[in-house]
Amino acid sequence: MNNKFFGKSYLTVDQIEKEDILYLFEKVDEMKKLVESKGGNDELKGKVLAALFYEPSSRTFSSFLSAMQRLGGGIIPMHGMSYSSVAKGESLRDTVKTFSCFVDILVIRNPEVGSAQEAAKYATVPVINAGDGTGEHPTQALQDVYTIKSHFSDIATLTVGMVGDLKNGRTVHSLTKMILKFGVKKFVWVSPKILMMPQEIRERVEKSGGETVEVENHNDVIGDLDVMYDTRVQKERFTDLAEYERLKLAYIITPDVMKKAKKNMIVMHPLPRVGEIAYEVDRDPRAVYLTEQMENGMYVRMALLKLILSQ
Ligand code: NCD
Repeated sequence: MNNKFFGKSYLTVDQIEKEDILYLFEKVDEMKKLVESKGGNDELKGKVLAALFYEPSSRTFSSFLSAMQRLGGGIIPMHGMSYSSVAKGESLRDTVKTFSCFVDILVIRNPEVGSAQEAAKYATVPVINAGDGTGEHPTQALQDVYTIKSHFSDIATLTVGMVGDLKNGRTVHSLTKMILKFGVKKFVWVSPKILMMPQEIRERVEKSGGETVEVENHNDVIGDLDVMYDTRVQKERFTDLAEYERLKLAYIITPDVMKKAKKNMIVMHPLPRVGEIAYEVDRDPRAVYLTEQMENGMYVRMALLKLILSQ
């Protein structure tokens, strides 16, 4: 199979098919072995990545930079674009044109939905969407699906639960779109009424012949789940902070809650968590958020950078 990622931007999970994802996952396996055996190599020597982050980030930002460096590439880490010419009023369009002159690839996180697409229109190098507001987080979906696949041989048969702020959480939007490509049919969405999954995503699941169960209480459904993907309530997307305060801890996963879950269920979370999973749950062997799910983020980004930057 040929490398469909080469020279292209990666902006939404919609642009790739299951075959492309599986092809990338083969490279992810290789990257994992490479890091475990030698830490990295020089495959991307002479290439430079600029990470332009207009929103906070720990994991996505640093895993991209680590990924590029482990493959021998250079980095321009712009964390806090408020210190760049953006503070002087520069537009996204001019910023991406500028950085395109210096680097081989741009990784952008911006609070506006569609900003990565917008950036890609003006960039003369490939752009990776590292989160566009409440829109998508397509590299997180890759690490999430890779993690799920390493636990279950046939993911199409799984019941996948998503808990928390499903309206504003971009990770669950991208994850849903991606697992539909793998034939997942059973979705259980747990959220307060005002934070329900957007209609567009619900329609997509229904069109693919999937079923959605939407509830407000996780205790009613946790025993049915094979995967529980928890998310934080996205404070930065609220205009009414009193409402955020009321909803922020609508669900707290504790060891008691975990007692109702299947023995082989896995608990995922893109992180950061802000109280919705008790620290005691970290010791549960079903909890993968602080270990493999996070580590896979670096391997997935190494594979993606390699495929985009080298044929
Ligand atoms: C997520 C994000 O930025 O969308 N974090 C991440 O990239 N791992 C989730 C979040 O911020 O809640």
